[in-house]
Amino acid sequence: MDKRKIIGSLFMGFAFFSVAVNAQQPLYKNATLPVEERVNDLLGRMTLEEKILQLNQYTLGRNNNENNLGEAIKQIPAGIGSLIYFDETPELRNAMQKRAMEETRLGIPLIFGYDVIHGFRTVYPISLAQACSWSTSLVEDACATAAMEARKSGVDWTFSPMIDVARDGRWGRISEGYGEDPYTNAAFCVASVNGYQGDDLKSSDRVAACLKHYVGYGASEAGMDYVYTEISNQTLWDTYLPPYEAGIKAGAQTVMSSFNDISGTPGSGNHYTMTEILKNRWKHDGFVVSDWSAVPQLIAQGAAADSKDAARVAFNAGLEMDMMGRCYDKHLETLVKEGTVSMERIDDAVRRILRVKFRLGLFENPYTPVAKPEERFLLPQSKAVAERLAEECIVLLKNEGGILPLQPEGASTTTIAVMGPLLDAEKELLGNWNGHGRAEDVYPIKKALQEEFAGRANLLFHAGCPFDGDDESQFASALEVARQADVLLLFMGERHNWSGENCVRSTIELPDVQSAFIAEMKKAGKPIVLILANGRPLALSNVEPLCDAIVEMWQPGVPGGKPVAGVLSGRVNPSGKLSVTFPRATGQIPIYYNRRKSARPESGKYQDIPSTPLYEFGYGLSYTHFAYGDLSLSKSSVSAGEKLVAQISVTNVGKCDGAETVHWFISDPACRITRPNKELKHFEKQPIKAGETKIFRFEIDPMRDLSFVDADGQHFLEPGEYYVMVGGQKVKLEIHE
Ligand code: GLC
Repeated sequence: MDKRKIIGSLFMGFAFFSVAVNAQQPLYKNATLPVEERVNDLLGRMTLEEKILQLNQYTLGRNNNENNLGEAIKQIPAGIGSLIYFDETPELRNAMQKRAMEETRLGIPLIFGYDVIHGFRTVYPISLAQACSWSTSLVEDACATAAMEARKSGVDWTFSPMIDVARDGRWGRISEGYGEDPYTNAAFCVASVNGYQGDDLKSSDRVAACLKHYVGYGASEAGMDYVYTEISNQTLWDTYLPPYEAGIKAGAQTVMSSFNDISGTPGSGNHYTMTEILKNRWKHDGFVVSDWSAVPQLIAQGAAADSKDAARVAFNAGLEMDMMGRCYDKHLETLVKEGTVSMERIDDAVRRILRVKFRLGLFENPYTPVAKPEERFLLPQSKAVAERLAEECIVLLKNEGGILPLQPEGASTTTIAVMGPLLDAEKELLGNWNGHGRAEDVYPIKKALQEEFAGRANLLFHAGCPFDGDDESQFASALEVARQADVLLLFMGERHNWSGENCVRSTIELPDVQSAFIAEMKKAGKPIVLILANGRPLALSNVEPLCDAIVEMWQPGVPGGKPVAGVLSGRVNPSGKLSVTFPRATGQIPIYYNRRKSARPESGKYQDIPSTPLYEFGYGLSYTHFAYGDLSLSKSSVSAGEKLVAQISVTNVGKCDGAETVHWFISDPACRITRPNKELKHFEKQPIKAGETKIFRFEIDPMRDLSFVDADGQHFLEPGEYYVMVGGQKVKLEIHE
């Protein structure tokens, strides 16, 4: 028989064999079939008990979230849908996965989730700081790093990004989102989803994203946590939903329902948000997971009579997976048999969860290869991304007389006193929700300054004062050190756990002992540079007059003191701009840039302080200066469907290279629904060398950029007068029929 026939018969044999094998294996195990076919085949094989188990999430491994200690589940059913995975190596995860794959009838893999909020082990700046970089590409890169570390450590799914618009600094979770503005949260949401999910969820470097906390959690009354939020449908649509709509369009696979009560219907029992909007309007085909125990918490909120009622309310509202609530596993079977929960809803919920598991490739690759920590953690390229991002988050708030950068080239050796509770406090620089971050990974402030100023300055270190309390016992010795110095660097601010979940503060001023310390150091008569590491906006009116310069370094994560050392020496030209307003006083809260207009703009103000913020949204100084040219529009009058281009030139007229973010706002002076006085609709950051001019453009699509949304979520664009605003300029634009 000639060669061709041999090859032909081998091929036929193989083809027959593979058909035979496929014929034997169930369709859902055939990776060549479309996901929907596999989902339907598997669903059709499942019993009600197996379906209900998929709708539950327990925990596995070390539980390091102080707010829900001790709720570990001892006996985990092998067929459960998901686990929150607290370890940083995949062995335990793989052992549990083996139970799911081998001890269950259908071998449905678990999906393992975890709070990878701003880094897994290579922790980078908190989200509120990330937004101050105005660099969506850097944030995407950082999230991609976090995804790689997480997936290679046994986590397939992160409970991130948090995209809750927040305007109350007393609420500790303001640190976890991207600030006060809907558009900013939407832009960084998309960057995060793209960074986490990439374009191939099966990749061993990607994880499923989770948009949270759906929805309106940031409107927490009085800045408290877990409480009521008064949100009209109008505000729901024009303020809190836009980041979620953007994230769904970007392909986010999951959403987490929120703790808060949304004007009488808690987020975790809200059919309007979880079904009518998310599923029916936005066609989301992934699934909703509850926040931790949010299902049984419906009882505490007065929305359910008992845990069975809570399961019914949450499940029928469109919440697919019960995180640690133990309501679905206990009651759904009874509810189905009673007819208060339909099999159609059960099947839809299970389909959504199976769909995400198939998309993640978990049926083909249920196990995480075990790699050495050094093969995935703290890689040079990962740390480089974190450092770049930390540099670009730094906001220079004040620089009286150009005292910064210290020691312009050629100056004589300077004696610098470095003081404050942040010295030797690396853990605090990790920020909250720091995953598997470790204090020893953080670049110490002292070490960074010693390296930065080696041979150029004499550094004197002194702890100065505590973070809080009333111990002033070191003030006198600190003042002695201050008197020996030419300039004082005071590193002040917050501990990592003063912000984040369940971290509410009644005031956003610095603690009294820190303010008193700054006032005491002022007695030395030397210039003071205040460097802040904090997880919320701060009210600085009582210390701002005492400081010649103020640098907001936020909580940078692993890069620690290195980025800010670069800013202090001039190696890094600060380019951050605020993503959240810094008020003068706590009493001004809520305060944010895009407020609606007053009936009497010149009246109704505070009698005791100016009614303006201390530092407004978008504020940030540079070591150089940028001159803005004239704002121009390619057209001054267009129809709703006609696009146009706004542009402006920006020249670096200073002596050093820098980077400038241009924020583009629009305003609509008169509309059937009142609108904010201005709305951010585009931003762009560009490096601009000394003497160089760059052009910034905003391609305006009127329906996208000028329209508004009504209380039913309908977007509309009225003909009439609009304004495009940038850098203090505004130009009129006519929209005609
Ligand atoms: C927490 C938080 C949520 C987190 C979840 C899992 O209570 O509210 O943001 O993702 O539980 O830890």
